[in-house]
Amino acid sequence: MLRAVVTNFASPPVLTLEEARRPVPGKGEILVRVTATALGFVDGLIAQGKYQMKPQLPYVPGGEIAGVVEEVGEGVSGLKEGSKVAVWQFGGGLAEYALANADESIALPEGIDEKVAASALVDYLTAHYALFVRGALQAGDTVLVLGAAGGVGQAAVQLAVSGGARVLAAVSSQSKAARARELGAVDVLVLGSDGPPLRDQLRAIAADGAIDVIVDPVGGVDSEPSFRSLAKSGRHLVIGFASGSIPKLPTNLALLKSASLVGVDVRHFVDGHKAEAFAAAQALFQRFADGVLQPVAYIEHSLDEAQEAFTTLAARNKVGKVLVKP
Ligand SMILES: NC(=O)c1ccc[n+]([C@@H]2O[C@H](COP(=O)([O-])OP(=O)(O)OC[C@H]3O[C@@H](n4cnc5c(N)ncnc54)[C@H](OP(=O)(O)O)[C@@H]3O)[C@@H](O)[C@H]2O)c1
Repeated sequence: MLRAVVTNFASPPVLTLEEARRPVPGKGEILVRVTATALGFVDGLIAQGKYQMKPQLPYVPGGEIAGVVEEVGEGVSGLKEGSKVAVWQFGGGLAEYALANADESIALPEGIDEKVAASALVDYLTAHYALFVRGALQAGDTVLVLGAAGGVGQAAVQLAVSGGARVLAAVSSQSKAARARELGAVDVLVLGSDGPPLRDQLRAIAADGAIDVIVDPVGGVDSEPSFRSLAKSGRHLVIGFASGSIPKLPTNLALLKSASLVGVDVRHFVDGHKAEAFAAAQALFQRFADGVLQPVAYIEHSLDEAQEAFTTLAARNKVGKVLVKP
C-alpha cells in the first residue's frame, strides 16, 4: 500500500511517499481502508516534532480518519467488514490502509459523506464540548468566535447558531468573513493591522459587556480585549493558540464581572467521558447526514500531494479543512 511518511523532523515538514506492507489487525483492532483523512493545526506541529507528544519515526501523519472496515481482528464485535467508521488517533491516516482500535472507532450513519465525517470529527466535537459542556451555552446568548473561519471556528459558529445563540465572528479577511456569514454569523469583525481594533469594532455592534461566551482557538493580542467585553458571568473558552502566542490576563478582570476563563481540551472529553463524547460525535454525524448541519468546507488533496497538503495547512488564508483522499 502507498503511504506518506515523515522520516526526520523539519520545518516545514517533509513528507515522503513509499510502498509498505498492508498491516494486519491484531486483537481488538480493525483495518480501515482510508477514504478521507483531515489534517488539523496539531498535525502540522506533530509532523515538525513541535507538539508536546513526539511521534516515533518514521511516522505516518493524519489522525482524523474516515473509511471502510476492510478486516477485523480477534475479539472485535459491533463492527464488521464494510462498516463505515471514523476514528481519531495519533496518526496513520495518510495511507491507503490504517490500523485502528475498534473501541476508538465510531460507526458512521447512512448518508454522511466520509470527507465530511473526517473533516468534522475533531473540530465539531471540540466546538460541541466547548460550547455546551464547558461553556454552558444557552439559547439567546451572544457568542464571539475568534478565528471563525478556521476548523474549530467554523464548527463553533455553526453549532452556536444551531443552539440559538447570536453569533459574532472575528476573522482576518473578507473571504473568511463571507464564510462566517454563510454559517450564520450575524456580524463579522474583520481584524488586522489596517482596521480598527477588536474592542472598537465590537462596541459598534454590541453593547459593552454583552458577550456571554467567547470561543478562542487563536490566543494572541485579541484575547484580552475580548475578555474585557464579556458580560457578567461570561465564559471565555480557551481552546488553542493558532496565533503562536499565549496571552496573559490580569485576574482582576475575572473578578470585576464574575467571569470565567475556561480551559477546553477535547481529549479530556474523549478520555474521561468516552460514552458521552462518542454519543455526541454520533449525534453530530447524524445531523450532517440529515442535512441539518451544512457540510464542512474542505480543500482536497490526493495522497500523492501529501506534501502540498501540509503547505495548504500552513497557509493562513485557507478557508476550510485540509483533506487528503488516499
Ligand atoms: N483544545 C482542544 O481540544 C483543541 C481541539 C482542536 C484544535 N485545537 C487548537 O485550536 C487551534 C485552532 O485549530 P484549527 O484546526 O481550527 O486551526 P485553523 O483551521 O488553522 O484555524 C486557526 C485560525 O486562527 C487564526 N489565526 C490567527 N493568527 C494566526 C496565525 N499566525 N497563523 C495561523 N492562523 C492564525 C486564523 O484565522 P484568521 O486568519 O481569520 O485570524 C485561522 O483561521 C489550534 O491551536 C489547535 O491546536 C484545540
